Amino acid sequence: MFTMQDLRDHYRFTDQDAELLQALQPLAEANRERFSLELYDYLYSLPETATILNSSNRLRLREMHNHWFMALFSGTYDNHYMNHLTRIGHAHVKVGLSVHYVNSAMNQIRHFLLGLIDVNYTDREQRRTLREAIEKILDMNLDVMSTSYREEEMKKVFVSRKVETFLIKATERFTYGLNLALVLALAGVSISVVILFIWDIAHIFEGNMEKGILSALGSLLILWMMIELMDNEIKNLKGGKFNILVFIGVIIVAMIREILISTLRHDDLTTQAFLAGTLLILGVVYYLVSLAQKDTLKN
Ligand code: HEM
Repeated sequence: MFTMQDLRDHYRFTDQDAELLQALQPLAEANRERFSLELYDYLYSLPETATILNSSNRLRLREMHNHWFMALFSGTYDNHYMNHLTRIGHAHVKVGLSVHYVNSAMNQIRHFLLGLIDVNYTDREQRRTLREAIEKILDMNLDVMSTSYREEEMKKVFVSRKVETFLIKATERFTYGLNLALVLALAGVSISVVILFIWDIAHIFEGNMEKGILSALGSLLILWMMIELMDNEIKNLKGGKFNILVFIGVIIVAMIREILISTLRHDDLTTQAFLAGTLLILGVVYYLVSLAQKDTLKN
């Protein structure tokens, strides 16, 4: 954060500039009313600023803006003056004024003041030095005002950012916990599938060869998909991307197993045709999703 002395150094604002501005005080006083009229004419001509003015205490507002105008020519530009400028940004943020209108209003004020100099001073050199002093003090004002404006806005964002960060972190932890529970559940189910596989193999030794082999094949398919699912979940836990294809794959495998069992059961033709139709649709969906994923990877 700069002090007023830093600001004066950066803008090469000298004691002579301060004296020149102070010398303009009587002229500013004589034109104070006209300044106010022209500024408010301008502010009422824009819908956004007019709305803000209409919902404020007009008399108090005029007084504040007039006071600021006269302070430009006080001749004293110390840290107290700087604090006054810092407050302006805060006041404007509070009323929801965009910094854009402060900049445009400053442009009008600059135009007004430079016009005053042109009309009231004939000597070219005197006009030049006065113009320079005015330019400097207005730019320094805008500098402090916009800095304090940004700081005030940052504070607004910072408060919500804190809340946001907390909420995001809490939700992230929750989803992480859910994913962890899912992986554990998948591991539990996989153990059951292994038991199912052993059970199916046992059928082979019991003499029911065809049933045993087909069921064992179905269980193996499911086990394979379980591994894929768990792999996907672990990748997800490590921050990877969620892969919907794996889930469609699981349904396809479950369907294939169902078809295997259905043939063993010698189900009627309509049931088998229904299963085969569903498998075909799932196959098409799998293909389309994988195509879409390839496209997003390319982009
Ligand atoms: C160069 C441009 C401007 C300057 C130098 C300026 C200056 C000031 C000052 C000195 C204050 C008093 C701050 C305080 O001590 O609390 C103030 C407040 C205010 N200004 Fe400006 N202003 C400018 C532009 C505008 C514009 C474009 C609007 C648009 C409507 C505006 C509306 C207000 C309002 C509504 C307040 C009162 C805030 C409150 O109620 O506390 N100002 N301004």
